[in-house]
Amino acid sequence: MKISVIGTGYVGLVTGTCFAHMGNSVICVDNDIEKIEKLKKGIIPIYEPELESLVEENYRNKNLKFTVDIEEALDNSDICFISVGTPIGEGGSADLKYVLSAAESIGEKMNHHMYIVNKSTVPVGTADKVKEAIQKKLDKRKSKLTFDVISNPEFLKEGSGIEDFMKPDRVIVGADNKGAVEVMKELYTPLIDDADKFITMNIKSAEMTKYAANAMLATKISFINEMANICERVGADVNKIRIGIGSDRRIGYSFINPGCGYGGSCFPKDIKALIKTAKDNGYIPKIMESVQGLNDAQKYVLVQKVIERFDKDLYGKSFAVWGLSFKPNTDDMREASSIDIIKGLINRGAKIRAYDPKAMNNAKEIFLRENSNIEYAENKYDALLEADALILITEWREFKEPDFDIMAKYLKEKIIFDGRNQYDYEVLKKFGFEYYQIGVSI
Ligand code: UDX
Repeated sequence: MKISVIGTGYVGLVTGTCFAHMGNSVICVDNDIEKIEKLKKGIIPIYEPELESLVEENYRNKNLKFTVDIEEALDNSDICFISVGTPIGEGGSADLKYVLSAAESIGEKMNHHMYIVNKSTVPVGTADKVKEAIQKKLDKRKSKLTFDVISNPEFLKEGSGIEDFMKPDRVIVGADNKGAVEVMKELYTPLIDDADKFITMNIKSAEMTKYAANAMLATKISFINEMANICERVGADVNKIRIGIGSDRRIGYSFINPGCGYGGSCFPKDIKALIKTAKDNGYIPKIMESVQGLNDAQKYVLVQKVIERFDKDLYGKSFAVWGLSFKPNTDDMREASSIDIIKGLINRGAKIRAYDPKAMNNAKEIFLRENSNIEYAENKYDALLEADALILITEWREFKEPDFDIMAKYLKEKIIFDGRNQYDYEVLKKFGFEYYQIGVSI
């Protein structure tokens, strides 16, 4: 099928590349010339496993093209995905300026019937606004062209976006006519191994499904973090509680890993936007407000533990930090817990020596603007040199089984604060470490 994708951010690039890899003819468009030129050379602006080689292969096969010319993209496609950013706007709502400007460009430039598919995470009712924006431009041109607007939210996780796309748990399609549903069915059939995974509904329900999914996942995380905080106070071990409750199939193990808070480009932004939508419609979403509040506080739990162990005044103290990205397998620093934790420590006078396998450059951009009390280490052991303690924030695989002998030698004091509960307390005790985790009292 002939597809165009507007926006070559994380979602747009993964979507376009995967559709091309399935044998469709895909043209990705972005108004950032530099980005498009780099993509043509196979240079990917983000770190995502497998993406670079897939872009390169499909660009070489000519299944995948890149352009800054939206007219060229629309002329060469029947289905156009809008995958532009929806940053946090006024009062926490999703800012639709990029989505609506894409819609206007479509209305100005399309020359045949098109299926316009919203992939960006957008508040309920956005499809109507997109429809209106396109129609207005067509009316201005006195054009009688027709189009369909479809909602097809994405559920890609950074770090496993390609796999999530190619083997989806489900494909959600919100449409207001059978023809539009059929086109989407044809497009996604190669990825669907079970007919029940192709779920159709009206457009507003599809838009809401995306928010509900992220809200549920964020709720699970804040729930287990709350349990962790209670566990610490009553002498229980949240790691055991997790296994104890996860074994109940109704609950399940996923997304109940306790930690120092969730981050990323989706959960924080989407929860804020959902709260705003609810309030705008006269409803106070009490659970969502608690989920958000708990997560904000959870980012400070490690700082609190450091203060309790050392002192409120951390002048003269130096801490090694392992992991800066908001989760492993990505270089993305958006809303990462590391930002709040590091700032919390630096504000109390501490010095930081940080290491992350992929996110160092992005981290430097964030911290350099504000701080000179942070240094960047060559590797994970180098970060430990002369540090008063190690603080583990992101659970990259290379931190999972480190050499504890080397760590004991490098650290000034054998103390670990673990924000992701990666280690076995008994093992660390043998090496003489003091070990602080989330949700475990000592
Ligand atoms: C999320 C959704 O999972 C995805 O479906 C949606 O399309 C976009 O948002 P992503 O932001 O890439 O994906 O990351 P995810 O793996 O969901 O993790 C989000 C945050 O939650 C991370 O900071 C992670 O560390 C944290 N997390 C996750 C926990 O603290 N505990 C868990 O058990 C799981």
